[in-house]
Amino acid sequence: MIQDSFNRAHNYLRISLTDHCNLRCFYCMPEEDYHFTPSSKLMQADEIESLAKVFVNLGVNKIRLTGGEPLVRKDAADIINRLAKLPVKLTLTSNGSRIHEFIDVLKNANIGSINISLDTLNAEKFKLITRRDGYDQILKNIQLLLNNNIVVKINAVMMKGLNDNEINDFIGWTKDTPVHVRFIEFMPFTGNRWTSNKVFTWQEIMEVAAQRFQFEKISDDPNDTAKHYRVPGHAGTFAVISTMSAPFCGTCNRMRLAADGKMKNCLFSKQETDLLTALRNGEDVEKLIHECILQKAEALGGQFTPDFSHIETQTIQNRSMIAIGG
Ligand code: GTP
Ligand code: 5AD
Ligand code: SF4
Repeated sequence: MIQDSFNRAHNYLRISLTDHCNLRCFYCMPEEDYHFTPSSKLMQADEIESLAKVFVNLGVNKIRLTGGEPLVRKDAADIINRLAKLPVKLTLTSNGSRIHEFIDVLKNANIGSINISLDTLNAEKFKLITRRDGYDQILKNIQLLLNNNIVVKINAVMMKGLNDNEINDFIGWTKDTPVHVRFIEFMPFTGNRWTSNKVFTWQEIMEVAAQRFQFEKISDDPNDTAKHYRVPGHAGTFAVISTMSAPFCGTCNRMRLAADGKMKNCLFSKQETDLLTALRNGEDVEKLIHECILQKAEALGGQFTPDFSHIETQTIQNRSMIAIGG
């Protein structure tokens, strides 16, 4: 078991396959020239498999592949096939643009649920946020997943003045479409133009939803990042991920492995542990994992508090989101 000094057991590993992406969302990728990690510095497919096995031996039973966009990596199918053989719930978080090229791989790997990042239901706004085309293909791919009985959660990062006016459109979408929409409070990372007044909080989201819908609270799993609700009669549900206004660190079970093989014990930790170099040098990776997790802060990487009005992205010591994987 991988346990931290606050008695939290860690059984969920998020592995970033690459920091490359075919979209350019401003809140995820810094505006100034971002240098993508060269492939020689990335974990290779067999190294990902080896490291994943070490974590599984220590009790990990859920692995999520992230990016950048995990499916832009050339050997993504090979990696999925390798990890599908492990005794874990394997899943991924994707921007949805390449799902149609991978649907057979996903089915063969028995992937039962996928999280798709989609912040708007408006094609023009999609272009504004992502600085790329591709909205129609993503909507088609969501339908393709549903047709193949793969559960789809939609991650929509809420940014005040940009897409908070779409909350009820998203909830309306769940009436006939069995997707699970999760509104995410905008979080600060290096270079992502976050300011506290752009955070649209859980409470504000609920107030907007209540103007149009009657809904009920439904149960959350013990380690969930989201708080879930259902509008009676709707095929899908909605939820809120309230990192900023109501952090859920007390039940955290998550660890992260960046695409360059560095482990982070928290989304917001500045400290990193180089597992890839250790693996390549034949060092004791298990020991390093335990040491890394024992240094985990009680909440939010020890970098800020739920009173987030004072945070400035310049003072945060972290990677940009595209290099962490969420
Ligand atoms: P499920 O396993 O389906 O519940 O997904 P998830 O929420 O664990 O992962 P996903 O990649 O879909 O992330 C959704 C949002 O939650 C993103 O904005 C992530 O950055 C955020 N998130 C995921 N894990 C954590 C976490 O440990 N802490 C915080 N603060 N946010 C997280
Ligand atoms: N704040 C909140 N969520 C974010 N994501 C990316 N950047 C941010 C941010 N600054 C989300 C993506 C993706 C997930 C892994 O993290 O939309 O769905
Ligand atoms: Fe866990 Fe860090 Fe996320 Fe809190 S902010 S839930 S401690 S990963």
